[in-house]
Amino acid sequence: MASASRRAASARAEPGESLREQLRAATMAAHELLDHAMQAASGWQTRADYARFLSLQHAARVPLEAWLADNAPTDLEPPRQTALVASDLAALGLSLPAASPAFAPSNYRDPGAALGAAWVLAGSALGNKHTAKQVERIGGGAWPAAFLGDAAMMAFWQGLRARIEQPADPAEAEGATRAAEAVFAHFLGVAEAARTPESLPA
Ligand code: HEM
Repeated sequence: MASASRRAASARAEPGESLREQLRAATMAAHELLDHAMQAASGWQTRADYARFLSLQHAARVPLEAWLADNAPTDLEPPRQTALVASDLAALGLSLPAASPAFAPSNYRDPGAALGAAWVLAGSALGNKHTAKQVERIGGGAWPAAFLGDAAMMAFWQGLRARIEQPADPAEAEGATRAAEAVFAHFLGVAEAARTPESLPA
């Protein structure tokens, strides 16, 4: 699927391809890059790693949630998760990190933009489910996991599936893809900034 991952945002869908498949193909390489960057910046092998992981999640998600609140119709605004991350950080005895730069995709008015951004945040709950199991095991069940175990985002994800598991109008698909790419780029920027030692909490 390497060729699919390099597909341009404006490329036409394969015949019968769903919007979800299109989005996954277009952002596969970005997701892999982000996964590696996050493991390098934080990971969750120790309590301190996990604290960095949560700080990074909080910093990245504050502007994304703000953008969605301003730009998404109600049915496409995913449940906010930063309060859950904040409660996990507080349980670890940590204060909140500074927010990352504003999220401002250039195509914010395009059809599909809110849908694409919502897909990334909701889809990340799938990865969080896997991570939650590892955190549970490594932390011996003692680490707070309100964010990783968020049932509201999983419920939102299930609702979104009906909308994305069918082919989309090409303009909507392109807008969604561009916005999804912008969300991955935003997260990647935060993860890469967190790799500089002075920005990491002790
Ligand atoms: C810590 C690094 C990460 C790991 C290890 C990871 C892992 C995964 C895994 C295993 C899946 C597939 C789950 C399944 O199909 O059951 C997945 C899907 C996904 N993740 Fe991640 N993820 C990470 C970070 C992120 C972040 C930060 C975002 C975006 C904010 C993200 C967005 C997505 C999306 C959009 C999907 C696909 C949803 C779909 O299938 O339509 N991931 N991730």
